[in-house]
Amino acid sequence: MAKISSSTIDEVNARTDIISLIGEYTRLERRGSDWWGCCPFHNEKTPSFHVVPDKRMYHCFGCGQGGSAINFVMEIEKLSFTEAVVQLAKKTGIEVVYEGANFVQENPLEKRKDEIYDLYSRTSGTFHFFLTQSDMGKFAFDYLISRGVSKEIIEKFQLGYSPSDRTWLKKFLLSKNYSNEFLNESGLFSKKYPDIAFFSDRLMFPIFNRKNQVVAFGGRILHGEGPKYLNSGEMIQYKKGETLYAFNFAKETIRKEKSVIFCEGYMDVIAYHQAGITNAVAPLGTALTEGQVKLISSFVDTVYLSLDSDDAGQNATYKAILLCRKLDLPVKVIKLEGGKDPSEILNKFGLQALTNAINDAIIDSDFLLSALSVKYNIGTPDGKTKASLDFFPYVDALSSDIQKDSCLEKLCQTYNLKPEAVKADFNNRENARNRIQTSSINNNIANKTEEIKLNAESRAMLAVVANIDYFSQMRNCLSVDDFEDALARDMFIALEECYREGSMNYDAFLSKCTDERVQKIVTKSVISGEFTSSPETSQQTIEDCIWVIKKNSLERKRDRLVNQIRQCQGNTLEEQQKLDLLLNEKISIDLELNNRKKKDAIG
Ligand code: CTP
Ligand code: MN
Repeated sequence: MAKISSSTIDEVNARTDIISLIGEYTRLERRGSDWWGCCPFHNEKTPSFHVVPDKRMYHCFGCGQGGSAINFVMEIEKLSFTEAVVQLAKKTGIEVVYEGANFVQENPLEKRKDEIYDLYSRTSGTFHFFLTQSDMGKFAFDYLISRGVSKEIIEKFQLGYSPSDRTWLKKFLLSKNYSNEFLNESGLFSKKYPDIAFFSDRLMFPIFNRKNQVVAFGGRILHGEGPKYLNSGEMIQYKKGETLYAFNFAKETIRKEKSVIFCEGYMDVIAYHQAGITNAVAPLGTALTEGQVKLISSFVDTVYLSLDSDDAGQNATYKAILLCRKLDLPVKVIKLEGGKDPSEILNKFGLQALTNAINDAIIDSDFLLSALSVKYNIGTPDGKTKASLDFFPYVDALSSDIQKDSCLEKLCQTYNLKPEAVKADFNNRENARNRIQTSSINNNIANKTEEIKLNAESRAMLAVVANIDYFSQMRNCLSVDDFEDALARDMFIALEECYREGSMNYDAFLSKCTDERVQKIVTKSVISGEFTSSPETSQQTIEDCIWVIKKNSLERKRDRLVNQIRQCQGNTLEEQQKLDLLLNEKISIDLELNNRKKKDAIG
């Protein structure tokens, strides 16, 4: 973007009424010539924030924030200087003049972002059209209606349907005069086959930035095989860790109510908004990040967590509590009874049930103490120790000593522990944790993974996981359809998702494995190093693994062909042609299998 002229900046400063601007974010009261209120940038109960209209400045004695109206907008809306000036200019009806008479040189990065916004919003509009107006998207629309999603919400969230013909989008966008090179790099197409759309035959959730521009998509599967959700990868206009789904719709309410609800994903957010609870947002297929919490931390004095009630959801809740507390935000946990997530609650019990659940939300320390007493057998000294050890990081995260003390006290009362013992363990928590953790990890693995039988496919996939950086070679040679074994397929899908997101590491991988058994065997094999190869042999390992799966897949395909060939009579011309095709296919599979056998014999 070009540089804005200083006359425009002066005019923006002069014409902006700083009292009413800031008054949108916090309640200001007049005292003499200044105005005072609670600081919108940090949590406080007594006002230390003041605005001096004569000087057109604000300042907070509590947190030290201060500056002009432009600075205020930059801080509170997290905008760049230029963006803040443009926003204020719009508000006050000033035309923005750029420096230099014919200043045309634009920042190429900004220009590119603008092009992407334009492309994504057009694509989103098209998907929305398919969902709401076309025959091919009708089943997806009916699906939403059957899950209780209202038409208003489908409109508001611009939900869509991506056509099952994977070549359609490219042709369509080319006809709208986008260049092929630009489209290939747009994130909407497969990297390897750039004419093939990344999303197809999926329910589409456009992801907006705070300015309501579409920056990415999530696509939910509706039938067939594949990962439940595909999500856009990171690009210049989209940083997952700094984006919250529906923040654009929620930010007003978050500010007004001074609270936010973090939930698990798209459908949960939508359920809350449909119930009129419009401060709900969600991270995007990953655990909540510090960057995401910081987006809202200056506005809220309560964070509500509404994550799933399964094990994964409980773990995520624990981590989110620690994260929020470290940023000094009080947390409450929403418990959903009678359903696994908000959308189910909404459908089964209606709006009021969700509102009640929020009113009944419990403070995080109570939630933790009760959850930990269930997780560990609190009747035994060992259980008490483990539960306490899991509770200590929470105490650590609290900001004041008074809070820490009162939480430790609560711990003693709830689990009936001696305060001196708890104090000693708390002060000595690192040692105690090491002792307990090593013994329990070993036990868990020994107990729980023995029963899982591994076949050749899943053993091969474990070896790929152990050589995760080599996965790209595997995805070039195989697809989901090549897998017969469910565990192996789960691992492949999770790796594929990691690859598309550009996060090839164990954390990302484990979070994407849907099968609990996979998590266990992977952890075990990674820790034991059973499948880890040396750098010299990794290449060979990968090739071998690919072949194990390819061979299985080819042999299955061959068996199917042989069956079809047997059934084919060959009486009519049509049948003759079909038979030819089948025979040719069988021959090429035989060749592929034999070639490899020969190669193995020589090598
Ligand atoms: N998610 C993902 N990739 C997956 C599974 C889940 O990115 N393979 C993310 C999505 O953002 C999703 C969220 O995790 O919204 C929660 O997952 P889940 O509860 O399985 O999906 P829902 O959105 O609740 O969808 P539904 O209610 O249809 O199950
Ligand atoms: Mn869910």
